[in-house]
Amino acid sequence: MKTEIFKLDPDDPDLEIIKKAAAVLLKGGLVAIPTETVYGLAANIFDESAVAKIYTAKGRPGNNPLIVHVHSIEQAKSLVSNWNKNAQKLAESFWPGPLTMVLDKTNLVPDCVTAGAPSVAIRIPRLFVTRRLIEISGLPLAAPSANISGSISPTTANHVAKDLGDRIEMILDAGPATGGIESTVLDVRSSPPVLLRPGLISIKMIEKIIGPVKQNSEPHLHGKAFPSPGMLARHYAPKTPVICLENPAIEMIENLKKDGLKAKLLDFRKTEGALNLPDDPEGYASGLYAALHQLDEAGLDRIVIAMPPDMPEWLAIRDRLKRAATAAN
Ligand code: TXA
Ligand code: MG
Repeated sequence: MKTEIFKLDPDDPDLEIIKKAAAVLLKGGLVAIPTETVYGLAANIFDESAVAKIYTAKGRPGNNPLIVHVHSIEQAKSLVSNWNKNAQKLAESFWPGPLTMVLDKTNLVPDCVTAGAPSVAIRIPRLFVTRRLIEISGLPLAAPSANISGSISPTTANHVAKDLGDRIEMILDAGPATGGIESTVLDVRSSPPVLLRPGLISIKMIEKIIGPVKQNSEPHLHGKAFPSPGMLARHYAPKTPVICLENPAIEMIENLKKDGLKAKLLDFRKTEGALNLPDDPEGYASGLYAALHQLDEAGLDRIVIAMPPDMPEWLAIRDRLKRAATAAN
């Protein structure tokens, strides 16, 4: 299949292109869509064979449910049976934006979207272009990150094309995703709500609105029953082996070189010879996946990552880095 790529202004998208993408979705095709976090691979939630195509294109395990993207709180409510006070407050505070809420689903949401779960994960994405597409198509869109399952999430249309080119009908290119890491996933069915995946909306931001949030005590659930499959240890990983260290020195790279191994350091500090990312969490998140894609293509034997400090504001980033370093099995 030939994948068509269209460039779009995220704030002032060409309506004709949006209509083309909507037509593909209405016919049961797959469209890679920009969002403020990472690019998503979208299908019409009401079309079971289209949803099945997402799993096939990504090689995604069938037990990992998809996030549903909607354009308004009203549309979210039509898919949720237990919209509660916390959901309302969080939606008003963070939507459109990178907070995904898990709530009980209505019968409108097909089981294939939720991998058989009685709950649905739902959010309103921040980019205008994405909301416009959802609105014009009239369809809630199931969209996981637009990468092969287990590999690095895409923050550019090029990343998507590299992984999924020729497997999908269309890519909408609205430039690099500025958020850079995936949305926060919060189970809002219980009180207190439970954080299933840390992300750009921090626990502190959520607690300011609704009070205490329960953190999942085991961030690296492996091989057990898991509350959210994104909690699987290996996720977001480059093909090149990754070593995460709390305080790596550039000498470590030199030592690896002496052993005949090509290695590069990814650092939040301005270390000479390293690939440097900003030392603030937002800046770091924004550049992280592009940096990992770049290092993964550099023909290295090892990627060494200097872990940012073990502090709440770095939680989501440390989570992604640990997963990147977990060896495939
Ligand atoms: O920022 C994002 O969230 C991006 C953009 C495209 O929106 N999407 C994304 O989707 O990261 P994905 O499929 O890569 O991650 C979805 C996460 C997974 O950890 C999945 O297990 C969890 O959400 N999830 C989905 N439905 C769920 C449910 N009903 N209950 C618990 N977890 C759920
Ligand atoms: Mg993903």
